[in-house]
Amino acid sequence: MSQSDFGLIGLAVMGQNLVLNVESRGFTVSVYNRTTATTEEFVSRHPGKRLIGAKTLEEFVGSLKRPRKIQIMVKAGGPVDAVIEQLIPLLDPDDIIIDGGNSLYTDTERRDAYLASKGLRFIGAGVSGGEEGARKGPSIMPGGPASTWEVMKPIFESIAAKVDGEPCVIHIGPGGAGHYVKMIHNGIEYGDMQLICEAYNIFKHAGFTTAEMAAIFNEWNEGDLQSYLIQITGKALEQKDPQTGTPVVELIVDKAGQKGTGQWTLLNAAENAVVISTINAAVEARILSSQRAQRLVASRELSGPVPAFSGDRAALVRKVHDALYASKIISYAQGLDLIKTMGEKKQWGLDLGRIASIWRGGCIIRARFLNRITDAYRANPGLVNLMLDPFFKNILNTTQQNWREVVAEATLQGIPVPAFSASLGYYDSYRAERLPANLLQAQRDFFGAHTYERLDKPEGEMFHTDWPEVIG
Ligand code: 6PG
Repeated sequence: MSQSDFGLIGLAVMGQNLVLNVESRGFTVSVYNRTTATTEEFVSRHPGKRLIGAKTLEEFVGSLKRPRKIQIMVKAGGPVDAVIEQLIPLLDPDDIIIDGGNSLYTDTERRDAYLASKGLRFIGAGVSGGEEGARKGPSIMPGGPASTWEVMKPIFESIAAKVDGEPCVIHIGPGGAGHYVKMIHNGIEYGDMQLICEAYNIFKHAGFTTAEMAAIFNEWNEGDLQSYLIQITGKALEQKDPQTGTPVVELIVDKAGQKGTGQWTLLNAAENAVVISTINAAVEARILSSQRAQRLVASRELSGPVPAFSGDRAALVRKVHDALYASKIISYAQGLDLIKTMGEKKQWGLDLGRIASIWRGGCIIRARFLNRITDAYRANPGLVNLMLDPFFKNILNTTQQNWREVVAEATLQGIPVPAFSASLGYYDSYRAERLPANLLQAQRDFFGAHTYERLDKPEGEMFHTDWPEVIG
C-alpha cells in the first residue's frame, strides 16, 4: 500500500539520522539500502516507529504516496547517477528525487536537466550538520524549481534546525544553486577550522598546556567568537585518552583528510576570478599537512627560528582572539563574494542575508556572528563586500593591530599562519589605494606589448611604450 510520506535511499550514518528526524516529525518513512541486511537491522532497531523497510526498489517506490518524495543519501558522484538510473523506470511523472549528498553543483545541474527531460522533478539539497544535525535538525540548502520546493517545504521546514523559531532552510535558487551554496559553506568551514588550528598552534608554541587551551576556547565560546567549531574545539582539547591519560588531540597524527568540496571551491573561485585566499590557505594547509613524510625530512633539512615565547600570556590570548575574529570576517567576506559573483552570473537570485540566516543553526559553521551578516545584507542588499558593512568595518578597525602583531610575531618565530596572513594580505590589498600592479603592467607591456592604461588619461585608452631591447 502506498502510505509513506517520504522515502530515503542510503542508510549510512547521515541517511539513518535523517530518516529518524523525518519520522520524529510525524511522517511515515520508507527506507531502502543496497544491502538489505542494513535496512532490516535499521528498522528492527527502531520498533514502533513509522518506518517501512523495503527489500527491493520496486517495493520501496510502491510504498510511497504520490508525488513520491525520494531522498538519496549515497556517496557523491557515480553512485548518485546509478541510483537515479535505477529509479527512473519505476517512477511516475512529477515524482521528486532529492539528492542530499555533497554533490558537485554542475552534476546537479546535469541531473536536473536530465530528470526534467524524463518528466521527473529534482532537488539538489546541501545538508549540513553531520550526524547530530541530521538527527536533530540540519541546515538544508535546497536548489531546484520553486514549484518543487513548495511541495517539499513542509517536510524540509519541519526537519530543519530552528533558530528564533525560524527553520534553517530556504529555497536557495534554481538548478545547482543549493549544492553550490553548500560547497561554499564547506569552503568557509575549511577556513574556520584552519584559523582555529592556527590559534591553537600559536598557543602550543607559546607553551600553553592542552587544558589551558581548552579553557581559552571554552571562554571564547561565550563571547563574540561563539560558534559550533569553537565549542567542539574546546571539547576536543579536553578529551583524554583513557589508556594513557594524554589529551587525545596530542595523539592524533597531524595529517588532514579532505573529501573535495574545499578544492571544488578553489576551482570555482579561480574560474570566476574571485579571491578566496583564506579558504585557499586552508585547503593548502590540509594538503601540506598530508605530506607528512616530506615534512619530516624537511624539518631536519630546512632551518628556521626556534619558537620561544616570553611575553604576557593574557595579552597573547587577546591578540590571537582578535586575529582569529578578523580573519574569520575576511574568510566570510571572501566566501560571500564568491556566492554573490556566481549568483549574479547564473542569475540564481540569491539572497545572501537569508543564506547567512539559515547557517545560524544546524550546520557546521553555525555561529553567533551570522546574525550580523544577515543584518548587514538586510541593511544593504547590494553590499559589495562584507568588510564594508559598518559593524564589520568597525571590528576590522579595532582588531587589526592585534591581528598584525600576531601575524608578525608568528612569522618572526617561524610558526606557520597561512590563513591568518592570507586574510591580512587580502585586507591590506583590498584597502590599498594604489597597488604595485602599475609595474606589473609595465612588465607585461615590456615583454608582450600587452598595453596599459595611464592615470592621466581616460579609462579604457590603452598605451604602449617602446621599451629598450634586452640582450641575453
Ligand atoms: C557538513 C560538513 C559535511 C562533511 C564535509 C567534511 O556541512 O555537515 O561539511 O558535509 O563533514 O564533507 O568534508 P571534508 O572531509 O572534506 O573535511
